Amino acid sequence: MNDPSMLKLGVNIDHVATLRQARYRGRERGEPDPIEAALICESVGAQGITAHLREDRRHIQDRDVRQLRQVLKTRLNLELANVPEIVAIALEIKPDIVCVVPERRAEVTTEGGLDAARQWPSLAETRQRMNDAGIEVSLFIAPDPEQVEAAARVGSQFVELHTGAFAENFHRKRERAAELERLIAAANQAHSLRLRVNAGHGLNYQNLAVLRQVPHLVELNIGHSIISRAVVVGLATAVREMLLLMGAPGETNT
Ligand code: PXP
Repeated sequence: MNDPSMLKLGVNIDHVATLRQARYRGRERGEPDPIEAALICESVGAQGITAHLREDRRHIQDRDVRQLRQVLKTRLNLELANVPEIVAIALEIKPDIVCVVPERRAEVTTEGGLDAARQWPSLAETRQRMNDAGIEVSLFIAPDPEQVEAAARVGSQFVELHTGAFAENFHRKRERAAELERLIAAANQAHSLRLRVNAGHGLNYQNLAVLRQVPHLVELNIGHSIISRAVVVGLATAVREMLLLMGAPGETNT
């Protein structure tokens, strides 16, 4: 059983779909299959799966979200822009939670998160519709006091703190310390406003230990580093399987 206070992992599988689309765009199926990937993540303990249905459908497709909804036993976190078409799909498919993210340049603050402070009326409306449909809401925001305050006004259940600047500056001592401080302050502020705190973007096997100094974290959404590592650690098996099919006698020690 999972300890409810344990930090949870949501694996972002968009990158698997990106690879599939590079070869199989416009086709009904192709490899690698993000659904298969999601089930593997779940089978080894990931507490959730994250997918972003973008307006341009550059990676995850509508059918992927529908299938994920059917097969996942954990939590489906659907990332979306606050636009009518995608909001309607989410209300129909009913993920467990939606994370509202910026998609168009105009919606992006300098820090790269959602400008909840400027858009709170329309975000509040979407938040209400989602909650009425039994879907929790998270807002992907920069660790900025104004944005945290706006997220509370929107009434979202979660914020997802954007860790991109922290990750970008990880190897610059002073900047990293400053970004970590911003994340800690934002997490404390969010917690005091009764918002639950997730974090994501750019988290990897190197920066995770430091990031964990941020208090009140419930879930981390991680994609690129996990899928990248899977390619590296899985390549030997993939090559061995192909060699076997080609009639090679298997591994030798020579
Ligand atoms: N959280 C959000 C809101 C995202 O949009 C993404 C994907 O950019 C991630 C987390 C995962 O980021 P990464 O692929 O860098 O781990």
